[in-house]
This record gives sequence, C-alpha cells and structure tokens, in this order.
Amino acid sequence: MAEQIQAETLRDWLDAQRPVTVLDIRNDEDYAQWAIPGSVHLNVYESLRAGQPGALADAHLPVDRPIVTICNAGRVSQAAAELLADRGFDARSLAGGMKAWSLAWNAADVALDDPSCRVIQVRRTGKGCLSYVVARAGQAAVIDPSVSTDVYLNLASRCEWSIRYVLETHIHADHLSRAGELVRQTGATLVLPAQQRVRFAFRAIADGERIPLGGATLTAMSTPGHTSESTSYVLNETAVFTGDTLFTNGVGRPDLHADQDAARQRARALFASLTRLRALRSQMMVLPAHASEPIAFDGRSVQAQMGDLEMWLAEWLASEDAFVERVTSKLPPTPPNFARIVDLNEAGEFPAGDPTDLEAGANRCAVR
Ligand SMILES: [Fe+2]
Repeated sequence: MAEQIQAETLRDWLDAQRPVTVLDIRNDEDYAQWAIPGSVHLNVYESLRAGQPGALADAHLPVDRPIVTICNAGRVSQAAAELLADRGFDARSLAGGMKAWSLAWNAADVALDDPSCRVIQVRRTGKGCLSYVVARAGQAAVIDPSVSTDVYLNLASRCEWSIRYVLETHIHADHLSRAGELVRQTGATLVLPAQQRVRFAFRAIADGERIPLGGATLTAMSTPGHTSESTSYVLNETAVFTGDTLFTNGVGRPDLHADQDAARQRARALFASLTRLRALRSQMMVLPAHASEPIAFDGRSVQAQMGDLEMWLAEWLASEDAFVERVTSKLPPTPPNFARIVDLNEAGEFPAGDPTDLEAGANRCAVR
C-alpha cells in the first residue's frame, strides 16, 4: 500500500529544496489551469479511473528520489502511487490533491533600496495570492493575510517583531481574509480602506492618511477600479503595495460584482489610479497582491520597479477609451465562488472547518 503525504509535508520538502518528483496525473485542461511549478505532467487520469493497469507502465521517472502523485482530490493519485510502488518506486499520493495544495505557502524576502525596512512576501503558492509582513524597528504590519495566521505569527516571533497593524488593500473576492483572526490573536489594529461594505469594526483609512510603523510610514493612496475602495499603501519612498490594482504584468479586473456600465465606470477609475501610480518614482518597488502564475519554491519575490512596468504600462495608458475597451472586453471567467467569498469577507466571517472547497481553483483577478 503506497503511503500518503500531507500537503504541509510536501510544502516543507519543496521549501527545503529536497529532491522529489511531483507527478501530476490530471487531465490536460486541469493541469493548464494551475499546477505546481516544476511538476511532471502525465495525463493518465481517465485511464487510471477506468482501471487500466498499464496506464503508467511507460512512465520514465527518476529512481533516486521519492515521487509524489497528484490529482484533484487525492483518490486517483492514490491508484497511481500504488502502481508505481508496485514497480519499486518510493511513491506516495498527495492527500487531498490540488484542493489541499491550495493552502500551501512559501515566503521570500523582498529586496528594497531602503535597508532600514524589512518586507517578507508570503505567497499562497497554488492560488498566487501574495501577502506581506512589513517591519521596521521591531514593529510589523501584515498586509492582505491569505494563509493560516500561524504563518504570520511564526514569522513575526522568529524575527522578534510585534504585529501592530493588519491592513487590507480591498475586500477580497478570491480568498477568505485572515485579517480578522490575526487581529484577534495579536491585538493589532485592523485598517481597511474607508467604505460601507463590511459589517464589522475597523479603522478606516482615506487617501493620504499615514500609519507610523517603527519610524517608517505607510501612506494610503486611494486607487479605485478593481473595486471602488481599492487602496494602495506606500512604504516611505521605497515600495508600494498595490493590491489588485497593479500587478507586475497586468492590472486588476474591474468587473466583479458590477454590471457592464458599472464595470466601464470602474475601468475609468482604474485608468486614473494607474496613471497616479505610474507617476511614483521609477525605483519604487511594486508589490502586488497577486501573481499570475503559481509560485515556485525559489525564494524569489514577485516584484518589479515601477520603471520596469513602463514598457507595457505606457502603451496601456496611452488612451483612456482604448484602456476601458481592453479591460472590459478580454475578461477571464469570474473566479469560482467569488460571490460567496465576498459575502463572508464583508461579514468578517471565516467559516468553520475546511475552507479549501470554497477557495479552490486558480486565481482570475487579472487582465493581461
Ligand atoms: Fe481582488
């Protein structure tokens, strides 16, 4: 009987760069949607489900390292692991499959030109959600927490930082916010853009307001468009946390919870917000809330200087009408369960039990 491996253990292995073959057996469409970077893909899902014993007979896989088989929920991958184990491989199946993997995370240090500030990017690898721990002189702020609060608590305690603020750039539609729980556990102040959407207590922040953090300053910059309350936070003169307004290779979609007219209106707001962001100094580090691809365990943060985005941003922002057309016409399908996730985030509720069913699936927040 082939063993199972928990998502947390596979996460630790990949984080430690331990040699392992990640063998994804899902069909082509599922694999194309999202996968673990560096995984080997063999489309044998249907043949395994049909009980064809020869499904993996021709697979040439390295023998000097464990193999972790992966499917959507961890059942068919178990059959794959059994077949490989019978052939003498050290094979195990990822318990819970890609659904369980949706909670896996890793972290990377962000390189800044102001060495007095530390920023750690915490990445939910499967979904591409990016969150941040920002610190100076022992005081820390967490921005857009999207993984288990233990991750932020452990990082802060390892670095001897005290979490003073938890900030959100906007009300999220792709993941359940962990901000409320983190605030309850730390006694930190919850800071949200001023809006009438949520039904819980928070400190509202408006354009130009500042939050002091160990001698550094986070300044709110209202950047509506992706949502009407979307706000970016500028750290001194060194970095800007852009939420889902500006990514390193695209911009946030303006159409969630909006009809066609509202989406066009939001697209115009987004145009103005991007124009404003673009005017920041060119060395300003752009730190978004999403990556468009699943994130590798490479310790490299997703970041770009504002000046590096100029190549495509200049073209996108050349004409407002063309921009509106571009960001309202080529939209990917809406993220799965986004309406339910928004409801829960507006209520400040984190449902009991396993959140992975609600949050599973690729992220589709960007227009590129
Ligand atoms: Fe978003």
